[in-house]
Amino acid sequence: ALQPVLSLLCSVGGGSNPFQHLEKSAVLQEARVFNETPINPRKCAHILTKILYLINQGEHLGTTEATEAFFAMTKLFQSNDPTLRRMCYLTIKEMSCIAEDVIIVTSSLTKDMTGKEDNYRGPAVRALCQITDSTMLQAIERYMKQAIVDKVPSVSSSALVSSLHLLKCSFDVVKRWVNEAQEAASSDNIMVQYHALGLLYHVRKNDRLAVNKMISKFTRHGLKSPFAYCMMIRVASKQLEEEDGSPLFDFIESCLRNKHEMVVYEAASAIVNLPGCSAKELAPAVSVLQLFCSSPKAALRYAAVRTLNKVAMKHPSAVTACNLDLENLVTDSNRSIATLAITTLLKTGSESSIDRLMKQISSFMSEISDEFKVVVVQAISALCQKYPRKHAVLMNFLFTMLREEGGFEYKRAIVDCIISIIEENTESKETGLSHLCEFIEDCEFTVLATRILHLLGQEGPKTNNPSKYIRFIYNRVVLEHEEVRAGAVSALAKFGAQNEEMLPSILVLLKRCVMDDDNEVRDRATFYLNVLEQKQKALNAGYILNGLTVSIPGLERALQQYTLEPSEKPFDLKSVPLATTPMAEQRTEQLAAVPEFHGLGPLFKSSPEPVALTESETEYVIRCTKHTFTDHMVFQFDCTNTLNDQTLENVTVQMEPTEAYEVLCYVPARSLPYNQPGTCYTLVALPKEDPTAVACTFSCMMKFTVKDCDPTTGETDDEGYEDEYVLEDLEVTVADHIQKVMKLNFEAAWDEVGDEFEKEETFTLSTIKTLEEAVGNIVKFLGMHPCERSDKVPDNKNTHTLLLAGVFRGGHDILVRSRLLLLDTVTMQVTARSSEELPVDIILASVG
Ligand SMILES: *[C@@H]1O[C@H](CO)[C@@H](O)[C@H](O)[C@H]1NC(C)=O
Ligand SMILES: *[C@@H]1O[C@H](CO)[C@@H](O)[C@H](O)[C@H]1NC(C)=O
Repeated sequence: ALQPVLSLLCSVGGGSNPFQHLEKSAVLQEARVFNETPINPRKCAHILTKILYLINQGEHLGTTEATEAFFAMTKLFQSNDPTLRRMCYLTIKEMSCIAEDVIIVTSSLTKDMTGKEDNYRGPAVRALCQITDSTMLQAIERYMKQAIVDKVPSVSSSALVSSLHLLKCSFDVVKRWVNEAQEAASSDNIMVQYHALGLLYHVRKNDRLAVNKMISKFTRHGLKSPFAYCMMIRVASKQLEEEDGSPLFDFIESCLRNKHEMVVYEAASAIVNLPGCSAKELAPAVSVLQLFCSSPKAALRYAAVRTLNKVAMKHPSAVTACNLDLENLVTDSNRSIATLAITTLLKTGSESSIDRLMKQISSFMSEISDEFKVVVVQAISALCQKYPRKHAVLMNFLFTMLREEGGFEYKRAIVDCIISIIEENTESKETGLSHLCEFIEDCEFTVLATRILHLLGQEGPKTNNPSKYIRFIYNRVVLEHEEVRAGAVSALAKFGAQNEEMLPSILVLLKRCVMDDDNEVRDRATFYLNVLEQKQKALNAGYILNGLTVSIPGLERALQQYTLEPSEKPFDLKSVPLATTPMAEQRTEQLAAVPEFHGLGPLFKSSPEPVALTESETEYVIRCTKHTFTDHMVFQFDCTNTLNDQTLENVTVQMEPTEAYEVLCYVPARSLPYNQPGTCYTLVALPKEDPTAVACTFSCMMKFTVKDCDPTTGETDDEGYEDEYVLEDLEVTVADHIQKVMKLNFEAAWDEVGDEFEKEETFTLSTIKTLEEAVGNIVKFLGMHPCERSDKVPDNKNTHTLLLAGVFRGGHDILVRSRLLLLDTVTMQVTARSSEELPVDIILASVG
């Protein structure tokens, strides 16, 4: 819609924006000119342009002023000036949701849409559909059907695109236009055919079978429009993500032989992006990309090498065949193409070629944009993982890049890459940290400086010579602005908390910071100083090395509540929720509205994804979300009735547990009319007899009263009868009782919890063959957070220790150290600690 406005802007004023200083009130004042007779089309079009400009700059128009301007504008329909008329159409579209009573222009637009002036008809259709709501749509339905099959392509395209927009609110009406859309899809005009197929696809996209039929029908007869082919390829590859379908794949592959380069590229790109594509399937796609590499058209070379670059990440061997063509592109005058060629070669080439390629690329690093420099950094990052022996060369390259000019995204990519090298390779830690120390001496990006300070606090104390980092960190306190100073103070405290020898000098430095100008810096320094002076490991662990795990807004609210209701009981940090996402807030509110759930205490956890208890496309669709409280669980069933001749009433889901959970009550969904979602709940108490038996299977049965009803009015006419419907079983696992929390320093957290309730057991995982698989399974099963990157198993090792942290319902920390040994099978020694006995017992009982 903005195109004419923008091109108008570009044509005037040679660069400077003539509308820069527009005042809304002055412009609206000018709009009075619309009422003058005779109409001055040039002047009026100019004023409309200004109004559109203001709206698009985000200027707020009040309803009254917008409505006034809109009504004045309607007078301009008396003029037959084509430019002015088209500006009116644009204004109607932009104002349709700000002004009131915009439907007043319906008859003018309908007239233009069916009139003689072809130039008006398309834009009139677009404007009309924009102001039409579902109730009015029936009135213009006849015209829309005619417009879709109009012989003027711009009219037909406008009608098809507008229909696509209307689908969102009036699906059932637009659905009736498929015959017309079918006819348009056979049009000789490439845009009309493309738009018609687009509409047909969106009408049918929830019906996989219909989509497959459509693809086979249109592709069998061949399509005129390369755009339509591209779209069909995208639709086919989307279908392929969800199902196997060799006809679909054959279609995409056949497009590799299309006469339009656009279609050939789209097909190749679709094939290489298909998940789980085999080397054999990949080969023809890679071949056409290889041909494109030597095309005289820069755009094709660029597209090909960019796609090959992506393929090389997953299937380097498939791209090796193109190495010669890629070598030719290394010297391409288009530096973007050269960069992509080199970074692709870095991924596919041999270790011996790295030095040569790195040298080549460094010769023009200064000529390429940041975006492509990031591509280089990503290639280096991949190389580091592949060739650990090349770390020194690659790190040096990164440090050189770090010292040169560059924007935030680029610098961040470098820092990320260095940090991941440091974290994964102990031998490169010291060099890496020193270079980063140098970088923060002169770093303009606060976020990067604080990130590096955080890393120094975490990794520095564990190095051989921790004291050498202190000067760099303290310099930040002296030289930087407050955010960086605060980060530096926290880093200093972490050294003091882990190193007794350095503690006295750290205390001296922190004492200097308590006089800082900034509140945050001063508060942090005062706090850390007081904690460190206690010289207690548990305090250091809880308050300096690992910090708070509860949600800060949640803490604020809980404290406020506590002050409002004074009590003898001290404030309990365990009552504060761990996370307050908008989703969690919404759930808490929704549950608080049910009287049966009052007194359950704070909601501890909700399952992140609802579980489907019915297959899709059954008569009732039921999904369950599990909510865990300290001593209870609430199962929320979101139900939809898809039968239009039935209304369900008094709907509950009856549950039978395999363990000693006790069903306390069912909260029914009163009524479940056709297609209107409703919710019912089941409340259960956790097992009391054997509190460790939390892992449980519930068999579920939906019970309800069915009343037959009139599908059009929804009126019920009988008493109804009781019925039931068997649902899938619902699993409750130990993970439903635990929330993930991150412990930056696991050892400190381990010491802090202490060994009062420590238990240890050894298990054999007989069906598991690798350490990686074991680690993945344990993390998923317990639903705890893997700490200190212990979920990454180094290659060629047969022992590994996995460190997991979580909070058990009720707010107790639970930590698990799992030592794994791989012989023929995996043996696992699990040690669990918590501040209470029950969580430890539950972990060991559930693993066993
Ligand atoms: C390289 O070619 C692509 C595709 O034609 C183009 O978009 C890009 O601007 C070119 N880049 C340079 C640095 O010339
Ligand atoms: C609703 O259903 C429950 C359980 O199926 C039943 O006990 C109860 O009597 C029903 N209530 C009404 C009002 O029909």
